[in-house]
Amino acid sequence: MFKLPVILIYVLIAGCAHFHGWQSGCEAFCFSKMEGIMDYVEDMKEELAELRFLNSFEKIGSHYYYFEHWKETNWTTADEECRKMGARLAEIRDEREYNAILPRLQSNMYWLDITNRGQGDHWYSLNTGQPAAFLKWHQGGMDNEGFAVHCVTIFYDDMWDENCMNFDNYICKLQK
Ligand SMILES: *[C@@H]1O[C@H](CO)[C@@H](O)[C@H](O)[C@H]1NC(C)=O
Repeated sequence: MFKLPVILIYVLIAGCAHFHGWQSGCEAFCFSKMEGIMDYVEDMKEELAELRFLNSFEKIGSHYYYFEHWKETNWTTADEECRKMGARLAEIRDEREYNAILPRLQSNMYWLDITNRGQGDHWYSLNTGQPAAFLKWHQGGMDNEGFAVHCVTIFYDDMWDENCMNFDNYICKLQK
């Protein structure tokens, strides 16, 4: 969708350079034309962002979620990606919310906003800074595989503590 404006800009610049030469005062002309085109590009960007937003977030219960099934990133990047969309890594408040999103997941691991910040069996929500409101460990509980900082994923029906540097899918949630 961005190709058209890019081509337009190219034609304009190439055209100006060809017919007038950059030396002959055409620069000001070209830049005044480009400004209009850049406004147009900005409008398109906004429109595209809105479309992407509407297409990608889904309402479950009273909240909007984005499920990244395809891209895998470490926990920090997952949080950044959610923020880029105006959301945050998902904070799950209770069992009801948890059960409501499970059917939307594929057989991947999905980051939530929970980490132990390297402090053993103390689990925090990145968003609230408070102890995680809801945890549901897999059978056998957290595994403490020796890495200091753990982050939490959902895998099938349960939560797993993972090395935050692992590359997993993730769930974003709009705050409101
Ligand atoms: C997460 O991944 C990004 C991009 O691959 C990288 O720059 C960053 O250092 C990683 N962070 C951690 C904590 O592994």
